Amino acid sequence: MADETGADETRFVDAAPDDYLEPGETATVDVGGTAVTIANTGDRWCAFQSMCPHQETPLGGVPLLRGVLLRCPEHGSVFDVSTGECVLASDDGWSGPMRTFRTQVVDGVVQVSLG
Ligand code: FES
Repeated sequence: MADETGADETRFVDAAPDDYLEPGETATVDVGGTAVTIANTGDRWCAFQSMCPHQETPLGGVPLLRGVLLRCPEHGSVFDVSTGECVLASDDGWSGPMRTFRTQVVDGVVQVSLG
């Protein structure tokens, strides 16, 4: 995002090498002191909050379902990790979104912007 001076405020931080995960895998990594879960969807990298927004179940290591979908193992909410949208409610009817972060790959390194 550009500020009034035209400078780009987006700051990307190294997260992992771009061969860190196989397609369909996720892992929680340190991004500048913040735990973030990254996912290799097979054609892109996604980044999102490391704990489920419902009741804070860790999401790192949970395999993706069909591309960009991730099912929380605790109560079954299914999220689109590319947008953060909850596409299937939890067992108790909760269906809030998860926070997602922008990613880019530069020189073989996945980078995440927390901004
Ligand atoms: S903790 Fe993830 S759906 Fe409840």
